[in-house]
Amino acid sequence: MKKLSARRRHPLAAVVVLLLALAATGGLYAAFAPAGKAQADETAQSLAIDEGKKLYSVGCASCHGSGGQGTTDGPSLVGVGSAAVDFQVGTGRMPAQQPGAQVPKKPVIYTQAEIDQLAAYVASLGAGPITPTGSQVDPAGADVAKGGDLFRTNCAQCHNFTGKGGALTNGKYAPDLEGVSPKHIYEAMQTGPQSMPSFPDSTMPEQEKKDIIAYIKTVNGDESASPGGLSLGGLGPVSEGLFGWIFGLGGLIAIAVWVAAHTAKAKKS
Ligand code: HEC
Ligand code: HEC
Repeated sequence: MKKLSARRRHPLAAVVVLLLALAATGGLYAAFAPAGKAQADETAQSLAIDEGKKLYSVGCASCHGSGGQGTTDGPSLVGVGSAAVDFQVGTGRMPAQQPGAQVPKKPVIYTQAEIDQLAAYVASLGAGPITPTGSQVDPAGADVAKGGDLFRTNCAQCHNFTGKGGALTNGKYAPDLEGVSPKHIYEAMQTGPQSMPSFPDSTMPEQEKKDIIAYIKTVNGDESASPGGLSLGGLGPVSEGLFGWIFGLGGLIAIAVWVAAHTAKAKKS
């Protein structure tokens, strides 16, 4: 007894008690916090699905059916995944307005929070491609040259060599990719909107998608970044060839005419 009370008065006693108390709080927190957080995530998720369902009933159900099963006016959304919703609504394509060869881009009418809720609801109907995270779509450190190779192999036949877009059959078109956000580029590859094929992660892994995004971002927008000087619209070999023929050959002809005119004059005098 005497021993204990002596220790209690030891100058380090307060420190020891404090450390023990801290360890106990830390341990309790570790034991309870993750469960609490997971539960909070779960309730937030089901709240988002509920809100999304309400938005869906008002804005989308008339074409896609009350449970996303599809109607004659719109395809089934079961299994299209949150990425498809984030792309379609985030680029203003959905909600579609009038029928036509291709649903065009329009000003976006939902906030990103509402788009996330719509996406959560549609994702709850069936598993599909998941909206990528910021780091998944970040092209920093990606290989632009490899991206260019991949783009010319997989995308240029529709979107042209530097993504300027082009016409397809039956009034459809592949859009210009300038100004499209990395996230929407990634999602377009994941989901293959309308007549575009999809490039799922199984055939085109995340790193290749990043390389492609880096390529699109490098060849678009900043004209001063064109290493050859004037970009000539970035339309590829046809416009560049035409430029070569008109100005290259044209220049040669002009020189030939000038030389001929001067030799003729020299002979006369
Ligand atoms: C006027 C009818 C109409 C409305 C309203 C509409 N959609 Fe659509 N939606 C379509 C049609 C038609 C397509 C198919 C476009 C195509 O592939 O040619 C489509 C396609 C989609 C796709 C792509 C499906 C896939 O297979 O990748 C998604 C996702 C989608 N809609 C979500 C929505 C959401 C969310 C809303 C509500 C905000 C909505 N749509 C409102 C008609 C509509
Ligand atoms: C068969 C032709 C075709 C191929 C190949 C193709 N696309 Fe597309 N792409 C399209 C069409 C058509 C659309 C328009 C779809 C729509 O409006 O819903 C499109 C849309 C896009 C969009 C959305 C642009 C916007 O304005 O929102 C992106 C980004 C895109 N494509 C990137 C790619 C990439 C990257 C590749 C190669 C990995 C590729 N595409 C291959 C035809 C194609």
